[in-house]
Amino acid sequence: EKSEIISKVYLSLLPSDLATYGRDAKALLKELQSQNERMFLVTFLVLNTGKTEQELETNVFQAVSIAQKHNCELCRLDFQQEQGLMSSLPLADCQIEIQRGLTTSSTAIFVPFTTQELFDNGKESLYYGLNALSNNLIMVDRKKLKNPNGLILGTPGSGKSFSAKREICNAFLVTDDDIIICDPECEYAPLVERLHGQVIHISPASTQYINPMDINSNYSEEDNPLALKADFVLSLCELVVGGKEGLQPVEKTVIDRCVHVIYRKYFENPTPENMPLLEDLYNALLTQDEPEARHVAAALEIYVKGSLNIFNHHTNVDINNRIVCFDIKQLGKQLKKLGMLIVQDAVWGRVTANRSAGKSTRYYADEFHLLLKEEQTAAYSVEIWKRFRKWGGIPTALTQNVKDLLASPEVSNIFENSDFVYMLNQANGDRQILAKQLNISPHQLSYVTHSGEGEGLLFFGNVILPFVDHFPKDLELYRILTTRLSEVAEAQKHE
Ligand SMILES: Nc1ncnc2c1ncn2[C@@H]1O[C@H](COP(=O)(O)OP(=O)(O)OP(=O)(O)O)[C@@H](O)[C@H]1O
Ligand SMILES: [Mg+2]
Repeated sequence: EKSEIISKVYLSLLPSDLATYGRDAKALLKELQSQNERMFLVTFLVLNTGKTEQELETNVFQAVSIAQKHNCELCRLDFQQEQGLMSSLPLADCQIEIQRGLTTSSTAIFVPFTTQELFDNGKESLYYGLNALSNNLIMVDRKKLKNPNGLILGTPGSGKSFSAKREICNAFLVTDDDIIICDPECEYAPLVERLHGQVIHISPASTQYINPMDINSNYSEEDNPLALKADFVLSLCELVVGGKEGLQPVEKTVIDRCVHVIYRKYFENPTPENMPLLEDLYNALLTQDEPEARHVAAALEIYVKGSLNIFNHHTNVDINNRIVCFDIKQLGKQLKKLGMLIVQDAVWGRVTANRSAGKSTRYYADEFHLLLKEEQTAAYSVEIWKRFRKWGGIPTALTQNVKDLLASPEVSNIFENSDFVYMLNQANGDRQILAKQLNISPHQLSYVTHSGEGEGLLFFGNVILPFVDHFPKDLELYRILTTRLSEVAEAQKHE
């Protein structure tokens, strides 16, 4: 009888409180069972600090009122401050026993770290700065991209060359890749020399030579490396002979014929001395019957016998060093285009040789707009961007001139074929163009608007991240990397 009364009392209570709780509990259970939710016991601590007790009081008061505004109540941990402090340190030791059960999705709102990160701890990932949103390291491996081709874009002084040098340095230390640099401003030499690399000063006054006719048996993926070399020689002659229409068909034919003749001796007995020179091509042209051959020979003469004969020598530098820098600053206007074309060919030769050795080659072209100005070197660059990937090449172009990059449909191909873009501060006009091309949001644009040196946006595949890279200025490495005149002078004084 007594228990009957009790159960009646309970029943009369049920509708008000328990029924509601029961419903909630059932809903919770359903979530846990069917929606992949888990139950967590959560302790949420807000750490307040202050320099004085008064300041601390004020800060606590403010925190409480902010919480109140959002319908939350903060409970002061009086007499438990020490435990509270210890629990809020990243020691994985919670000493406060105030807990609430929360499901996964409710718990997730306490973890606000939903920023995108680029952190790959693979063996060959390199450092590219800090994530501007979370301050985490950006470490990536360009080889893992579908297309490792890269662009570094920015206004003068924004830190393009600097970031390339930093990447070169890291790649040198972390990977086994070979590195080749085309350096029109002679600013990579200090770094390359420090890494015991080969700096090749190409200038009319220099005694360091590279032979444009150099060939290796891997030069082409087809069986006939000569066909590709002939193509290069044709480009070279086209530059030399010049003219609006370029080479005439007959001229092309005789050049091609001569190329096959002059390499015969080398292929029979491939020793370095048997490597043909420009002079051999010149002589071969002179023996042809066609007047066109003599026309080309006459144009070549200054490069063979005249004052521009720096490319008429056997290679006498260690072009196979792991890190090679072609300094073409001292090449006069006359020779610059030719020099750049020859450097590109040397790069091609190296990449192909490395491919058969299973090695990657990183190629850096600073002041890339210079290469794009000339039809021949532009065409070669496009070719590099299209085909290097398959050959284990990782090209990187540095330029301040986005408009040049998008000038012709062919060249804009370079842009589309680059999955790695390191974008530093941009000029207003370029910024608008880039925003359209790359689908950059106005917020993201703010990272390349009047940004400081070494700050910008990184495009890695389909990820876009703002980065900052403030290189410490008191390091010896900084002195090697900088181009700021006063700092360079200072560094030289040190030596
Ligand atoms: N990440 C960085 N951290 C610290 N300083 C930097 C950084 N990047 C660049 N700087 C400073 O800015 C200077 C200019 O950088 P850099 O030579 O790379 O400019 P640039 O973009 O290549 O310019 P230009 O188009 O004229 O070649 C450097 O010498 C260095 O002092
Ligand atoms: Mg530069």
